[in-house]
Amino acid sequence: MTATLYIIGTGPGDPELVTLKAINILKRSSIIVSPRGSQHGTSTALSIIKPVVPFADKEIVEIHFPMIKIRSDSKPAAEVLNAWHQAAQTVLSYLEKGHDVCFPTLGDPAIYSTGYYLYETICGIHEDTKVVFVPGVPAMSSCSASIGVPICLGDEMVAIIPATFADDRLREVLQLFDTIVLMKVHRSMTRLTDILSECNLLEQAILVEQAGTDRERVIENFEDIIERPHYFSTIIVRKKSCTAEVLFN
Ligand SMILES: C[S@@+](CC[C@H](N)C(=O)[O-])C[C@H]1O[C@@H](n2cnc3c(N)ncnc32)[C@H](O)[C@@H]1O
Repeated sequence: MTATLYIIGTGPGDPELVTLKAINILKRSSIIVSPRGSQHGTSTALSIIKPVVPFADKEIVEIHFPMIKIRSDSKPAAEVLNAWHQAAQTVLSYLEKGHDVCFPTLGDPAIYSTGYYLYETICGIHEDTKVVFVPGVPAMSSCSASIGVPICLGDEMVAIIPATFADDRLREVLQLFDTIVLMKVHRSMTRLTDILSECNLLEQAILVEQAGTDRERVIENFEDIIERPHYFSTIIVRKKSCTAEVLFN
């Protein structure tokens, strides 16, 4: 096969954060296969690139990837495996005809992204498929920029974790690391607020919802949260302050 699959990070939502490299590759390719989280909804990755990539001459194929928890110690649900397989077959059918395919994915493909599952599934079917990863701006970087809080400085250690972690592992990570980035927090706010409070970290936790979009919200006091935040929400817990007073004294 001569054609290439490009797995492209779109950044977290602001079209100005789509990289030039991503735009150039997307403009050159005629096929875009895009993931969407709900059966009838729209693809977020697609909506991010739409303002910066003309779609008129492109074939767009949206594929539903069910939002079901995937654990590293057990086999994914059959529904999830089927979706990966269907996406892989769709991509391969274009590659076999000599068409390059772009698979845009939210943020960066290296962080909790469907892109790598697709990659592994495709390579399982066709080992020598040409795949190129194009990095994107991760959501946590956009959240950090929005609140002006660094993720790590000096010798600090960082943990990036899905908030769906078991409580004990979460407590352990909160104790061990200097900065903890909690992703997929939207369904776990009550539980997270309790655990953060128990670890005396509630005051250092900041939630950023839909960072980099015109719907962005920054929440510092979790008691202000009345409704469940949007799925695109991340909490940054930075233990050390980085004011001049702390840094230079
Ligand atoms: C499946 S993960 C995708 C992560 C993505 N690959 C990345 O590089 O950031 C989805 C999670 O990313 C975070 N996220 C994605 N977009 C975001 C945004 N615009 N603002 C805040 N968090 C976001 C949320 O924690 C969400 O639950």
